[in-house]
Amino acid sequence: MKLKSGFLWGGALAANQCEGAYLEDGRLPASSDFLPDAAHGRWNAMLHPTNLLQTEYDYYPSREATDFYHRYKDDIRLLSECGIKALRLSISWTRIFPTGEEDTPNEQGLLFYEDLFTECRKYSIEPVVTLCHFDVPIPLIQKYGSWRSRKLISLYEKYASTVFFRYRDLVKYWLTFNEVNMITHIPYLGGGLLVDKEDPDFNQIVYNAAHNQLLASACAVRAGKQINPDFKIGCMMAAGSFYPYSCNPNDVMEACICNNKNYIFIDVQMNGSYSGFARNYFQKLGVTLEEKPEDAALLAQNTCDYLGFSYYSSRLISTNPEHLKKVADGNAVTTLRNPYLSITKWGRQIDPVGLRVTMNDLYSRYHKPLFIVENGLGVEDKLESDNSIHDSYRIDYIDSHIAQMKKAILEDGVECMGYLVWGIIDLISAGGGEMDKRYGLVYVNKHNDGSGDLSRFKKDSFYWYGQKIQNECHEESL
Ligand code: BG6
Repeated sequence: MKLKSGFLWGGALAANQCEGAYLEDGRLPASSDFLPDAAHGRWNAMLHPTNLLQTEYDYYPSREATDFYHRYKDDIRLLSECGIKALRLSISWTRIFPTGEEDTPNEQGLLFYEDLFTECRKYSIEPVVTLCHFDVPIPLIQKYGSWRSRKLISLYEKYASTVFFRYRDLVKYWLTFNEVNMITHIPYLGGGLLVDKEDPDFNQIVYNAAHNQLLASACAVRAGKQINPDFKIGCMMAAGSFYPYSCNPNDVMEACICNNKNYIFIDVQMNGSYSGFARNYFQKLGVTLEEKPEDAALLAQNTCDYLGFSYYSSRLISTNPEHLKKVADGNAVTTLRNPYLSITKWGRQIDPVGLRVTMNDLYSRYHKPLFIVENGLGVEDKLESDNSIHDSYRIDYIDSHIAQMKKAILEDGVECMGYLVWGIIDLISAGGGEMDKRYGLVYVNKHNDGSGDLSRFKKDSFYWYGQKIQNECHEESL
């Protein structure tokens, strides 16, 4: 059994984690440029960001990142050798509107992405573009409190319309916000919110900011479709279904509740309105969304064409206090330790079957095409003296996830547009700000402290993935 022709095999990157050049060609700083590295307490800074912009750290990894800004031509050529069909990239908002509020966009920023997308097309690589991947212009955070304010909706719409128009013939696949549900877990990364987890208004601030993002996303869909009706505009969530710890009905119900919470925003982007669960949950939390009468129609009329998602692991929940002590640490979303799964040093449990479960859950809920826009294994790699990297563990991870994805598509009837390996070229990790947690099929010679000459080397997984794509595409064409 084969996949449909045109399946988008590829990889994914994000501007804030690879571009660097944070003050070049008119760009001004964005939220992620102010996050320190792991050694200087990145997690703490993300969870308690109130004084983040006033604090001076020794090292800000995003400011140089892996220098993709200067090396993109070589990087795209390298990826073309792997035979990828699609590359997910994000646009850095502050390259286009450096403060977020200019009347006219920054031409140098627009040119950069024009060249980048043209370069992709040169090798028949389809760009898949995220408008907002964990970055907000700093002045919008200082002046408006970021997404707390509805002011950001029109500014984001202006930014979205500008890039939609400029790249209307270069880009077909768009995503409005990266992992829109992460704002409730890591509000600074997810929405530029300087709000402490302990703030009594935390829920009110975060859910209201998310509401503003959902409105902005709907405005972008409306604007994009006017500019080019052929655009495919998707939303994007951090997925991974919750399993119940046992067959105790209370555990099963708890897993159902956790899943419902995780779907709150995507329900709006896919179905056009908040679920009944969401409305009741807001009430329970004491959250009153600052809604306007026109919001409902805007959301209802501008839903997304497809659901992009990241999948790294399934999640596990229990109502038994004993089980609740066994947490798999190190991730933004807390989950219990699943005794059936192996786990990485960074607390990610490896569950390929969970990808199939998740795909079934999502597809039966929304009945619209899915797109796996992030999946991969973040671990340490060893660069050998001959510059080879033997990452058989990554090959196993990707291969087993692809196998389960194919079962979801071919046996369960799930519609899926493509599969993109996260961080296909090593990049700065979003959670830890470190380099040693590597996802790439291409190794970048850079280390946690910022040292390294940034040269690139192909890992074993690079050659394997190239062959895999070739075999899959050959099957498709039979
Ligand atoms: C997703 C993000 O949450 O997971 C990426 O969209 C991120 O930006 C990826 O890099 C992996 O997480 P981490 O923390 O290992 O980089």
